[in-house]
Amino acid sequence: MKIIVTGGAGFIGGNFCHYMVNTYPDDTIICLDKLTYAGNLETLEPLKDKKNFKFIKGDICDRDFVYELCESEKPDVIINFAAESHVDRSVLEPDVFVKTNVLGTQVLLDATKKYNLKRFHQVSTDEVYGDLPLDRPELMFDENYKIKASSPYSASKASADLLTLAYYRTFNLPVTISRCSNNYGPYHFPEKLIPLMIQRALNDEPLPVYGEGKNVRDWLYVLDHCKAIDLIVRKGKVGEVYNVGGHNEKANIDVVKIILKELGKPESLIKYVTDRPGHDLRYAINPEKIERELGWKPETKFEDGIKYTIKWYLENRPWWEHIISGEYQNYFNNMYGKRI
Ligand code: NAD
Ligand code: DAU
Repeated sequence: MKIIVTGGAGFIGGNFCHYMVNTYPDDTIICLDKLTYAGNLETLEPLKDKKNFKFIKGDICDRDFVYELCESEKPDVIINFAAESHVDRSVLEPDVFVKTNVLGTQVLLDATKKYNLKRFHQVSTDEVYGDLPLDRPELMFDENYKIKASSPYSASKASADLLTLAYYRTFNLPVTISRCSNNYGPYHFPEKLIPLMIQRALNDEPLPVYGEGKNVRDWLYVLDHCKAIDLIVRKGKVGEVYNVGGHNEKANIDVVKIILKELGKPESLIKYVTDRPGHDLRYAINPEKIERELGWKPETKFEDGIKYTIKWYLENRPWWEHIISGEYQNYFNNMYGKRI
């Protein structure tokens, strides 16, 4: 199989490229990435000499470029990770979220149709379902839960899901969608909760916890997500949505305290700051469908995954130090300047 992985220089796409290149030497993985602030070629450095891997810089919104790529490479499958992925940035600047996440996805769907690809897989998020209350632990998102996005980010992802399903219904396009909960692990850009807290705790800097830190996320180790996507692309039923989650709900403040304990740093570093506008209270994925139909299960317990992750950040300081020393500083000052 020849697979185009869009957004493969980002966090999950990068981990996916590593997993696929090393697991399937007979498949070819072509990473297409625009290298926005979130894309990092250092993530792909270990793959650069692999025979079954190729990196191509490009924008999924550029129709001519995407069509030319399909003509020259003749891929079988497109897996779309490329997106603007950070909720906080979508509050500051929604436009680019609509452009990349909605219009970019449409270009890829059109390419799948024009070149008769065998599959288009859309990597989506549990955020399309909106949030759940904190006091109803029995409620979870299944695939039929109503779509009710809260942020410009999640609204753009929900729109892309709807377009993907519309192309299945109208054009019989062979699509699948996965909706996953919060990922963590190596190569996670240090603007998201877990890597931000690790990096700042290591530097003895204040840790900005939004509101009271009671919001709940369902954490999944990134490799488990990669394996789920691979399984859906190979064995999933066309036209279907599969929820992917870790059965691992935690309040933000508890995650932050676990990180501090692992690093031997004091809780006095925690600083409660003004909440995120429209902040979703709780996400909880019900992954029974993918477990039942495809035999997938999360393999990494949070207690182990967080230790591997912290170890990775300790052993790969140059990777994240290059990021936080650059343009990222401007974003941090803009986002947190008055709050911390
Ligand atoms: P990320 O922000 O780390 O990476 C996104 C990648 O997409 C970057 O490499 C960036 O350069 C690339 N990109 C952005 N715009 C592009 C464009 N126009 N053309 C080509 N490439 C472009 O994101 P992530 O956390 O790895 O998330 C990957 C996907 O998974 C996203 O679609 C996101 O919505 C989804 N998702 C993420 C999580 C999570 O916890 N991080 C959970 C569920 C779903
Ligand atoms: O649920 C899946 C989603 O998870 C993905 O679709 C998104 O792409 C991904 O970014 C992630 O979204 P979140 O908004 O949940 O992740 P983030 O790491 O930004 O925040 C996690 C929680 O931590 C959230 O409740 C906000 C809180 N938080 C975050 C930051 C960055 C803080 O309290 N302080 C912070 O500084």
